[in-house]
Amino acid sequence: MGYENIRVEKRGKVGLITLDRPKALNALCAALVAELSTALDAFEEDEKIGCVVLTGSAKAFAAGADIKEMQPLDFTQAYLTDLITPWDRVARNRKPIIAAVAGYALGGGCELAMMCDFIIAADTAKFGQPEITLGTMPGAGGTQRLTRFVGKSKAMEMCLTGRMMDAEEAERCGLVSRVVAADDLIDEALKAAEKIADFSLPVVMLTKESVNRAYETTLAEGIRFERRVFHATFATHDQNEGMTAFLEKRSPQFENK
Ligand code: CAA
Repeated sequence: MGYENIRVEKRGKVGLITLDRPKALNALCAALVAELSTALDAFEEDEKIGCVVLTGSAKAFAAGADIKEMQPLDFTQAYLTDLITPWDRVARNRKPIIAAVAGYALGGGCELAMMCDFIIAADTAKFGQPEITLGTMPGAGGTQRLTRFVGKSKAMEMCLTGRMMDAEEAERCGLVSRVVAADDLIDEALKAAEKIADFSLPVVMLTKESVNRAYETTLAEGIRFERRVFHATFATHDQNEGMTAFLEKRSPQFENK
């Protein structure tokens, strides 16, 4: 399909999606989010793809939900159209998604990055939840996911004052997994994605599901879930191949089964 707001490429086993709406700093209009969902659906169905990288431009990963689109809405329109809910598609992706963030990741842009499985940031990245300055509040998970990433005090400060944090602070407080030079961002994100995509896809997906369970349940239930899923990996060809290859001192040949 032809996309107008994103670019979609395959790099070996990695799906690369680039937000590409430069005139609005990649503001996340409904059309862009619909295209993003279509691209993710296609990569989910493509058995050759094992991991997705989501990125933006050097200036902006995304400057938030599209303010021009939201400005005329009243409560009834926002509620009846279920504004923002289509974005949840990103968080429901079953294959891993890495956010590669340079420049602004503000409001919905920060929330979109947090829907991904981890964030690699360029040293130019700036994160923030400035919705309060617009007379509204985060609506795509910012109050919930940011709080789980960085704790109450910093999340509360970010959401109540709208201040931005730079990449160094974002790494220090656990919002991003690591910071790299801006010029290396895509290469580093692709390298991490290729590594993931070379592992057994079902085991990668089970691992992702298990880490995410930590955010949705008690420790005891999470441990029980992890144990059962760990046991389940022993039903795969790839677990047997991985352990046999280790003992035979050779590289494993995973077959995603
Ligand atoms: N929506 C729509 N258009 C946007 C936008 C947004 N979120 N962010 C930037 N743009 C547009 C600007 O209107 C401008 O368009 P024009 O050239 O047609 O005027 C263009 O992008 C370039 O922006 P600036 O001229 O403002 O660029 P700058 O370098 O001076 O500033 C910025 C960059 C600090 C990111 C600034 O653009 C900004 O503050 N943007 C808004 C950030 C924001 O408030 N995001 C939260 C949105 S609400 C939300 O996301 C709700 C939610 O939780 C789901």
